[in-house]
Amino acid sequence: MSKKRAAITGVGGYVPDYILTNAELERMVDTTDAWIQSRTGIKERRILKGEGLATSDMGVAAVQCLLNSKNLQPTDIDLLICATVTPDMTFPATANIIADKLGCAQIPSFDIAAACSGFLYALSTATAFVETGNYRRVVVVGADKMSSIVDYEDRATCIIFGDGAGAVLLEPTNDNHIGIADTILRSDGSGRVYLHQKAGGSLKPPTYATVAAREHYVFQDGQPVFKFAVKNMADIAEEIMQRNHLTGNDIAWLVPHQANKRIIDATARRMGLSDEKVMLNIQKFGNTTAATIPLCLWEWEQHLHKHDNIILTAFGGGFTWAAVYLKWAYESNHLKTAG
Ligand SMILES: CC(C)(COP(=O)(O)OP(=O)(O)OC[C@H]1O[C@@H](n2cnc3c(N)ncnc32)[C@H](O)[C@@H]1OP(=O)(O)O)[C@@H](O)C(=O)NCCC(=O)NCCS
Repeated sequence: MSKKRAAITGVGGYVPDYILTNAELERMVDTTDAWIQSRTGIKERRILKGEGLATSDMGVAAVQCLLNSKNLQPTDIDLLICATVTPDMTFPATANIIADKLGCAQIPSFDIAAACSGFLYALSTATAFVETGNYRRVVVVGADKMSSIVDYEDRATCIIFGDGAGAVLLEPTNDNHIGIADTILRSDGSGRVYLHQKAGGSLKPPTYATVAAREHYVFQDGQPVFKFAVKNMADIAEEIMQRNHLTGNDIAWLVPHQANKRIIDATARRMGLSDEKVMLNIQKFGNTTAATIPLCLWEWEQHLHKHDNIILTAFGGGFTWAAVYLKWAYESNHLKTAG
């Protein structure tokens, strides 16, 4: 009997209404629209505004969108995994809160923290659960309210990040010509010196001093992060292509983490892909951390065809990096617009 495979059978997404443009950032910090666009490719990003709204609310909206498109109820979900670095609270897990708000609090649910690679770590974990044969409908959510940990006085980071959430449904299949075919996950914790949040964890619990020193925000040493990201994202994409005997011609779509357009371009070049095969929405949403890849899948769903070879790849804090090779499982002919 052949092993069960996991296939993505639906996608959903959510971005908040508020648009933070480069022009507005020009009034907040010493920067220009031209600098931001040329160095990152970003024109605008979405920000979740409103008292009491958190990462879980965007996750709920993304899962509702997914369930609506599949005519499913929250209680049809067997397991929910949420990738995030901006949990509503340190504990409980944001996945628990999403399940409760959806009305399926009894299902197993947990979070995965792997920063910008979080969605691919969660997707790989969910794949393993589905392949056991014990879980039939697994929802993977990538959601981040980056505006809650971004310092809007730091021009090097506040221009990059935005808020959003995406979700996919994974189901088992016996068809070896569709579904998740291969995954590679990597990490190197020594990279934490370049990209981290200094205070708020057990190393440095919050105090008046940590707040005054602005240590509860993203700290990033941009240049080394850029260099590691370019090398590792391109390397891992090339590795997953080689071990699956794929050339650029075989690949229908690259779905890259949206951190910086220059990193994406370098990865696509190494893979031998032309721009038309690269999903890109960084100009509209910036870097939404765990949400970038499912948001791309949601936006491009109507362009995807059954059996398309798709490579997903990401690099992020940790450092963590990952690649997934999948064959798209369905035709989507319903039209939809993001945002
Ligand atoms: C952050 C990033 C866009 C900065 O671009 P860069 O070309 O590396 O720029 P540098 O950090 O070398 O800074 C160059 C100059 O621009 C300045 N600068 C930084 N941010 C600026 C801004 N928003 N507007 C104008 N100037 C800015 C710097 O202060 C520096 O000035 P100096 O030369 O006078 O010191 C880039 O490093 C990057 O994208 N890094 C990776 C980010 C990433 O992927 N993070 C998430 C990982 S998932």
